Amino acid sequence: MDLIRVNELLVTVLLHSGSRWPPKGSKPTAQPIHVSLAIPHDISSTAESDDLSKSINYSTLASTLRSSLSPNSNQEPAFESLEQVLLRSFDLLLLHGSNLPRAYLKIVQLKPPLHCKALAIEGEATRGTGLSWNLTTLQHRIEDLECQTIIGVNPAERLERQLIRINVSIAAPNPTLVSTSEDSLNFRALTRRLYQKVEETSYLTLEALTSFIALETLRHLSIDSPPDFDPKVTVRAAKPYALVFANSSEVEISRRSRDYPNQLSSPTKQPVDQPALTGIHSAAIALGSNIGDSFQNIEVALRLLEVPLEVITDRDIIPGDASLSVVDTSFLYESTPMYVTDQPSFINCACMIETNIIPTSLLVLLKKIEEIVGRQPSFRNGPRAIDLDIILYDQLVIDTRPINDRQTLDNLKGHLVVPHPRMAEREFVLRPLFDMIPNYVHPSLHKKIDTLLKELLFISSDPPMDRVIPFPRYPLPPTNPSSPSSPVSPGIDPVPPTLTHWKYPSPASKKATTPSKKLTQSKTRIMATLNATPDSFSDGSVHNTIPTALGYVREAARAMVDVMDVGGYSTRPGAAFVSVEEEIGRVVPVVRAMRSLGEDEDGEVGEGHGASGEEEELRARVRSMPISIDTFRPEVAEKAILAGANCINDVYAFTGPGSFPYPPAPHPPHPLPPGNSGDVDKDGQAPAAEYMREMKRIARKLGVPVVLMHSRGDAGMNKDYSEYDYVNGARNGWGLAGSGSAVLEGVRVELGRKVEEIVKGKGGVRRWYVIVDPGIGFSKTVEDNLTLLRCGGEVTDDVLIGVGTNRKRNPLAGYPQLVGTSRKSFLGAILQKERGKSTEGKDRTWATTAAVACAVQQGTLVVRAHDTDEMKDVVAVADALWR
Ligand SMILES: *[C@@H]1O[C@H](CO)[C@@H](O)[C@H](O)[C@H]1NC(C)=O
Ligand SMILES: *[C@@H]1O[C@H](CO)[C@@H](O)[C@H](O)[C@H]1NC(C)=O
Ligand SMILES: *[C@@H]1O[C@H](CO)[C@@H](O)[C@H](O)[C@H]1NC(C)=O
Ligand SMILES: *[C@@H]1O[C@H](CO)[C@@H](O)[C@H](O)[C@H]1NC(C)=O
Ligand SMILES: *[C@@H]1O[C@H](CO)[C@@H](O)[C@H](O)[C@H]1NC(C)=O
Repeated sequence: MDLIRVNELLVTVLLHSGSRWPPKGSKPTAQPIHVSLAIPHDISSTAESDDLSKSINYSTLASTLRSSLSPNSNQEPAFESLEQVLLRSFDLLLLHGSNLPRAYLKIVQLKPPLHCKALAIEGEATRGTGLSWNLTTLQHRIEDLECQTIIGVNPAERLERQLIRINVSIAAPNPTLVSTSEDSLNFRALTRRLYQKVEETSYLTLEALTSFIALETLRHLSIDSPPDFDPKVTVRAAKPYALVFANSSEVEISRRSRDYPNQLSSPTKQPVDQPALTGIHSAAIALGSNIGDSFQNIEVALRLLEVPLEVITDRDIIPGDASLSVVDTSFLYESTPMYVTDQPSFINCACMIETNIIPTSLLVLLKKIEEIVGRQPSFRNGPRAIDLDIILYDQLVIDTRPINDRQTLDNLKGHLVVPHPRMAEREFVLRPLFDMIPNYVHPSLHKKIDTLLKELLFISSDPPMDRVIPFPRYPLPPTNPSSPSSPVSPGIDPVPPTLTHWKYPSPASKKATTPSKKLTQSKTRIMATLNATPDSFSDGSVHNTIPTALGYVREAARAMVDVMDVGGYSTRPGAAFVSVEEEIGRVVPVVRAMRSLGEDEDGEVGEGHGASGEEEELRARVRSMPISIDTFRPEVAEKAILAGANCINDVYAFTGPGSFPYPPAPHPPHPLPPGNSGDVDKDGQAPAAEYMREMKRIARKLGVPVVLMHSRGDAGMNKDYSEYDYVNGARNGWGLAGSGSAVLEGVRVELGRKVEEIVKGKGGVRRWYVIVDPGIGFSKTVEDNLTLLRCGGEVTDDVLIGVGTNRKRNPLAGYPQLVGTSRKSFLGAILQKERGKSTEGKDRTWATTAAVACAVQQGTLVVRAHDTDEMKDVVAVADALWR
């Protein structure tokens, strides 16, 4: 259909609403408006005859509109809103004069409320039967709303506010209803809200800001509107100063309420005093400690959390059916107090819980646990044995303070405010939350944890927080209720004190910090290996008696290795079967001998028995050297730890041998190799699940670090990673395997599956205890062995893995790594190929040197090595180069 238009007809109308400044009295004010109209009309006959009488007399239309809308000497008509002007104009067009079937109208208010250039309303109507017409579309528009805000990723853009121009248009879902109702959009309130909210933001991207504006608009529209009201909001936002050679950069989006299920669904927008809650809820708790044995304090607090009925006996607060499970934990962080230097550093973490305890009772529980663990009342931010805070509780916004006291944060004591009001300014809260729930949307700030952390790090000048792994001290000290170092607590297993802890940089700070700006140099740790097996492949039964074992350990202690790995059952292909009893009989005596080195029969330290000071220092170093037990069997792990080991190193990552693929099919397709018969569950249940349950239980109960290696059962098994070839840069020969190579993805997926099962859910191992090992040399080809070494850091990068709908965050993101290359056969294969040299394990020290240097460069936390003194030299230089 042809169209006849009149554009921007200037009319003055009397309006009650919408003057630039809020009106003083109730009198309407005169406002200039532009009326534009378009009328579909077949012009062919006019075109042929060139006779205007056959067309629409737009001069008549225009003057009718002007005279009917403009006020007469009695100050009439006066309109309540732009909507009324529009409806009146349709009346004039469709009901009087020419017999028009349809019309389109746009009314623009030229001197609108502050901050925007124009407000407009736009609609289309169809003539009905008799004296009626129907509105078919209706849009409200805010044009060129100008705000100043911090936006952009450029460092300079973070310093000054810049101009943003925004257009918002709102399509009414049900225009026919509008024509009959008295409702009108309160443009002034909406523009003011958007202006204020946008000025408070500091997004990195225009995309995020645009989405935020759409959300705020929808939120405004939802006030007082019926539940099924579903408008569509289109937002265009431009950054006029972003580009030098273009007028502006711009983003346009359209959104409805359903696009913000988390932010708009919750009916409780106002803080509630005490929501009525039933069922299981999820909450985030932050834990911090900086006096006493912080690690022990945190572990005790976490265990007390899970026995609420023992901690609080008042059943009005904690009812008899109360339950609470810790279902996820963050990494552990250490922050050095910046100005108060005589204070020890703070240890922080967070956990996710699932509970049916209501928020106020949960707060009582936390306060009681603080008391039990030994909180001394102290000055704010001063020393704390343990500090527990509810950070988040579902999507709830809770404030138990009287409404008039909510303006300040100085009166929080004794009250519950959730989400925690200071969380967005605290790295030691945001980082732990990011480890567990990066995509949680803060219910009142409407930003993801990920976004809040990025924004904070952007403006923060504090040194990055370090992560820590504590090693508990075993054997447990004899229980002495009066000793302050062993908090006696109701209903929980004893928690060991801390032997030592390792500090390493958080992954984000690793990249952000240039070497010259680093405060502390991070240090690669060395794990020495002691094979208490007669058939060990690399040292062939040299250390299988206690005196020779101790001789080796003393050498390692002299070289200052960080941890001694003791194993009693070789995982070498074809190694002989060893029973559980035999394995315990090999490793436990070695652990005992190390822990009691230099002590006489009475348990007295052998001073005054002729040991020189230097010798005694060496023995003391052996007695307190962390020991890791290299086993896949829960019984062996438990016995060795209770005898004095401090860490579990499991090449099958808690799933036992013969567990590929994992999770296993309910009935193993093939009978297990006869040698493994001791490991088969009698009920025919998949043994992998059995291993998982038991290893997890022991690791959780004893609270020790665990090294979880990627393997596919026996070392010689399946080396095919082609199912992961979907990633870019798939394997491409020796030199070119790069980022995204299939084997890297395979390790992320296969080991990630196990790590998630170990860390998450009720009874999970604390995330800070997990060290992952990509398993170089286990079910890998030469290229894969080299790729895992060359690009090892990528195994734990924070990237998306999987394809299609299975894409998700790398489950290994952020975990520290242990890399073992020492004397392995892929080094032998290279020496054979390049030099025609046939080598035994002990001839590969120099070759190992190159591999260890590479692992250090890739950011590995621990390297596992045989030639400890040599590797100490390598690591010292490599650390100086790269760490
Ligand atoms: C249009 O209408 C005006 C006033 O009603 C009249 O003066 C004018 O002659 C009309 N024009 C035509 C071409 O009919
Ligand atoms: C106008 O709307 C009414 C009510 O929805 C409907 O009954 C009528 O048929 C419509 N008229 C036209 C011309 O679309
Ligand atoms: C907003 O709308 C006006 C009028 O249609 C247009 O001139 C302007 O460029 C638009 N601005 C943006 C940021 O889209
Ligand atoms: C750039 O945008 C501004 C504001 O929208 C406009 O007034 C100006 O004419 C534009 N300049 C060019 C070169 O397009
Ligand atoms: C990869 O390394 C392991 C351990 O050294 C070895 O058993 C395997 O044979 C290597 N792959 C090749 C093809 O050399």
